[in-house]
Amino acid sequence: MWGLHRPRGRRLAAALLLPALLLLSGCTGDPQDTLTRHGTVSDRLTDLFLLVFWTAVVVFVLVEGALIFILFRYRRRPTEDRLPAQTHGSTPLEIGWTIVPVVLLAVMAIPTVRDIRFISDVPSDRGDVLDVNVFGQQWWWGFQYPDSGVVTADAMYIPVGRPVKLTLQSNDIIHSFWVPNLAGKTDVVPSKNPKQKLNTMWLEAKEPGRYQGQCAEFCAQSHAKMKFEVVAVPEADFQTWLQQQNAPAATPTGAALQGMQTFNGLPCIGCHSIKGNPAAVGTFGPNLTHFASRDRFAGNWLENNTENLHDWLKDPPAIKPGSKMPNYNLSDDQINQLIAYLQSLK
Ligand code: CUA
Repeated sequence: MWGLHRPRGRRLAAALLLPALLLLSGCTGDPQDTLTRHGTVSDRLTDLFLLVFWTAVVVFVLVEGALIFILFRYRRRPTEDRLPAQTHGSTPLEIGWTIVPVVLLAVMAIPTVRDIRFISDVPSDRGDVLDVNVFGQQWWWGFQYPDSGVVTADAMYIPVGRPVKLTLQSNDIIHSFWVPNLAGKTDVVPSKNPKQKLNTMWLEAKEPGRYQGQCAEFCAQSHAKMKFEVVAVPEADFQTWLQQQNAPAATPTGAALQGMQTFNGLPCIGCHSIKGNPAAVGTFGPNLTHFASRDRFAGNWLENNTENLHDWLKDPPAIKPGSKMPNYNLSDDQINQLIAYLQSLK
C-alpha cells in the first residue's frame, strides 16, 4: 500500500482530491443547476431523478459491498495449497438475481411512465393556461403571446402559479429550449410546413424569480451565447407588463427623433419591427418596440446599458461570432443617435 508520507502517495492523494473538489464545487449555486427546482415540472423530474439515483446507490453499495467482502473473506491464504470445493450453479441464487432487478425496474417504471404523461401536456385540472409561441434562431429567442399580440425577445415573462404552454419553432436549424430550474429540454425544430406538428412543452413557476435559460443543442458559432431568461411575476404584474408591451412605442423627440431618422435610413428597418414606427417592419431580428424596458439584449448576453449598446453597434460579430447583424461600420455619431432612439423605447 502507498503511505501518505511517501511523495508518490501524496501525489496520488492530490490527484484524486482535485477532481473530487471540482466535482463537489459544481454541485450547488449555479443558476442553471438542474437539481434546483422552482417549477411544477422540474419538481416531478427531480423527484424521479432522486428515486432512480438512490435506488442505484443502494444497489451499488450492496453489490460492491458483497464483492469486496467475498474477495477478502475467501481470498487464498499462504497456508492453503489446495483448490476449494468446486460448485456449479445455484437455483435459488439464479431466481433471486432475476426477480430482484425485475422488481426494481418495475418500481422505477411506474413513476417514470406516470411522469412522462404528466410533463407531455398540461394536465386538464391545472386551470387557465397561458399560450406562448417560442421562436429560436441563430442566436436569440423570440416570444409571441398569441392572445394579446405581444412580441418580445430574450426574456419571457410568465405569471407565477399558472401553467404556460409553449409551442416551439425554429426559424433556421435545430435548437433546444431549456430552463433547468423550471423544466427539461425540448428540441426546437424548423418547419415551413404548417401541417407539421411542432414540439410543445409546458412549465409553471412556483415562486417569483428570474430563471436562466440556455439553448441546449449545438447550433454553430454563438450557441453558448444563445441565452434567455424566464421572468416569473405575480398575475397582476404580468397583466400590467402585457399592457405595457402591447402599447406602441413612445413618440421620439429631440436626440431620439434624430436617432429614429438614422435608424430608418439604415438597413435596421429590414430586420427589426417597432410598433409605432411604420418604416420598421422587419421580422428577421428581435422586435424592438419596448427595447429599453429589457434588462439585457443580444440573446440575453449583454446588460442593456449605454456602454454595451455602443460596443454592440460598433461590431456585433465581435461580441457574438457569426452574428446575423453585420458590422455596418457606423460612425460614433450614428451609434450615439441610435442609442438615444433605442433608449427612448421604454
Ligand atoms: Cu441554438 Cu444552440
